Amino acid sequence: MSDLYYPINDFGPLMKGLAIGGLGIVHVFLAQFAIGGGMLMCYFQWLAQSQGNQLARQFTDGFFKFIVLVSFVVGAITGVGMWFISIQVSPRTIGLMVHYFHWLWAIEYTFFFLEIVSGYLFYRYGPRLPDAARMTLLVAYSIAAWFSLFWINGILSWQLTPGRWHETHNVWDGFFNPSFWPSLLFRTITSMTIAALVACLVANVLPRLERRQREELEHRAARFLAPMVLMPVLAVWYFLAIPHVSRSWVLGGSAAMSLFFAVGTGASLLVGSYAIFGLLRQQLYINWATALLLVSLAFAATAGGEFVREGVRKPYTIRRLLYSNSVSRDEVARLRERGCTTDDPFPLQDADRYPTPQLAKGAHVFRNLCSVCHTLDGANGLVHLTGTWSDEQLRLNISKLQLTKPFMPPFAGNAEEVEAIVQWLKWNANGRPAAWDASIDLAALASIDRWLEEAGTQPGLGVLSKDGS
Ligand code: HEC
Repeated sequence: MSDLYYPINDFGPLMKGLAIGGLGIVHVFLAQFAIGGGMLMCYFQWLAQSQGNQLARQFTDGFFKFIVLVSFVVGAITGVGMWFISIQVSPRTIGLMVHYFHWLWAIEYTFFFLEIVSGYLFYRYGPRLPDAARMTLLVAYSIAAWFSLFWINGILSWQLTPGRWHETHNVWDGFFNPSFWPSLLFRTITSMTIAALVACLVANVLPRLERRQREELEHRAARFLAPMVLMPVLAVWYFLAIPHVSRSWVLGGSAAMSLFFAVGTGASLLVGSYAIFGLLRQQLYINWATALLLVSLAFAATAGGEFVREGVRKPYTIRRLLYSNSVSRDEVARLRERGCTTDDPFPLQDADRYPTPQLAKGAHVFRNLCSVCHTLDGANGLVHLTGTWSDEQLRLNISKLQLTKPFMPPFAGNAEEVEAIVQWLKWNANGRPAAWDASIDLAALASIDRWLEEAGTQPGLGVLSKDGS
């Protein structure tokens, strides 16, 4: 299987998963801002046209400059950055997403292209154009932006809930998967929310406006917050659509996931309550500091939500197909026989700094099977997690990895490789001495073999549904 191995990058103490997650959050936030921003400007342009509201027109132009700067420039850079990092972290996941949804990516890019072109035309010529032409450009921009969400949403939600696709391999079964609609609607409302909050911020910083005018702009923009009342319903719908086991990670099964979920929900509730009671009912005026705080809360909500969405897929990147460490489900049995380092054509960096070949092999096993979710001693660091464990515990728990924590995939290597990573962990925990004896403990290898056998090659118990899928 030559396509099992790709050169992958090491992001040091910043775990690979975090590197991509961190960038992803910024990108999603900006992209959703661009989508909601488009809708918001259509609304303000409509106000300008239908009521001859000069202020609304002025705002549309001011706000648009903001969108162009922030979302075109930073959004595009982070978007390209997503590809750049994903091919360094999980080329196989991206490879399969491109393989199965080839034409949908092409459609996605077409819409993105339309978004950029109409956006740029508005930016360049908008202030000089008659109202009808302005509206046409803004509507084209908004539709294109929303459809770029539509297409990407199908591909991303397929990763978590492939649904019937596993049986049919039909593109549309994969695309319109069980979490497609709740996720799309939820993101649409999020986009409107972010745009409205940023609009309140922009209303405060636009020059030469009176307080009364800023207030009017805010109250208009705040209408875009009203759909937030639907969010709890959509969240529940989404929650019911995702696998039972993913729900359990959020509800206490994984401390980190539960924490992020709490952050996301808490921040959304704060924004939602302020929006509904403060802005919509009391018609409060908010100054730039409050607006900035609300935008930051919306960012925290996005961050929490995206982390959870990425995290609850564990142990998969594509459910029931590919594990997070890029080993596919049906390859585990073969790698148990063959070893996960044997056929890897990519050498270990600095292999000669390890005193024995066994330790180098341990580092290699870590790189191939664990490093997407763990670092050695940084984020989710293994030395720290196993600090108090005996040799026996290390061997047992790593051999039975998917039973140790069901959000980890089964160990996809042979007994020598388990022993190698155990030795490598011990060597690191002992301060990496220059001399270290190779372990040739045959009794230990025999136990490991037995434990690997007992654990089997299927995912952990909690991950299997009743029909074993
Ligand atoms: C899909 C992501 C993922 C992969 C791949 C993964 N782990 Fe984990 N592992 C986790 C998470 C998340 C935790 C929980 C950390 C915590 O409890 O704070 C964890 C916990 C652990 C623990 C502590 C378990 C306990 O009971 O406290 C050990 C040991 C461990 N992993 C070893 C490994 C080894 C060795 C590999 C590679 C062979 C590996 N993991 C691969 C995600 C992963």
